[in-house]
Amino acid sequence: METQETTQEINIMPRIGDQAPNFVAKTTKGTIELNDYAKDKWLLLFSHPADFTPVCTTEMSGFALRKDEFTALNTELMGLSIDSVHSHLAWVNNVKEKTGVYLDFPIIADIDMKVSKLYGMLQPNESETAAVRAVFFIDPNKKIRLIMYYPLNVGRNMDEILRALQALQVTDKYKVAAPLDWKPGDKVIVPPPTNLEEMNERLNDDSCERIDFYLCKKDLKLD
Ligand code: BEZ
Repeated sequence: METQETTQEINIMPRIGDQAPNFVAKTTKGTIELNDYAKDKWLLLFSHPADFTPVCTTEMSGFALRKDEFTALNTELMGLSIDSVHSHLAWVNNVKEKTGVYLDFPIIADIDMKVSKLYGMLQPNESETAAVRAVFFIDPNKKIRLIMYYPLNVGRNMDEILRALQALQVTDKYKVAAPLDWKPGDKVIVPPPTNLEEMNERLNDDSCERIDFYLCKKDLKLD
């Protein structure tokens, strides 16, 4: 019975569009309650399997090295692993000493696995004790907008994380969609018509690059 409950608890997976589950957690920057954190900002909540491991060191350093780019996108960073705060502090210090990179963002010490389970970061068929490499993109309304899950042996791609964040922000702001491989500066997709009147209008609309009524691209006039 206990095993079943534990399995059910582990299997809760937040989905895109859900409110980000609230939590209070110990971090390398003190105790943080999610709902009080990063007010009016985007937040990337990301997990790594373990401190003092090679791939994780490259990834966390990657977030730290590009922190200014996230700040410019009104985005805060928060890491997590199932390690103690003492382990995090020793690792942060070690990475700084050995590489000069300072992991200057809160890292949750999820030693009781509460947050990992809440966010589906603990995927027992991959590891029963270490979180997978997850990234939750949480918008200023604390809604989950994009989720990445990577296995233990494959590091994430920082360019793709930044690109996805920019795509979310641009498509929100301009009410458009981002096509395959979109990057800032590329044309965006105009929302397709939803009725015959709009379809006929679109067929006569020369303001966008029209393949057909349902596939039209345009340049953004950025402000
Ligand atoms: C790593 O970060 O290198 C790593 C961590 C856990 C399992 C496998 C690799």
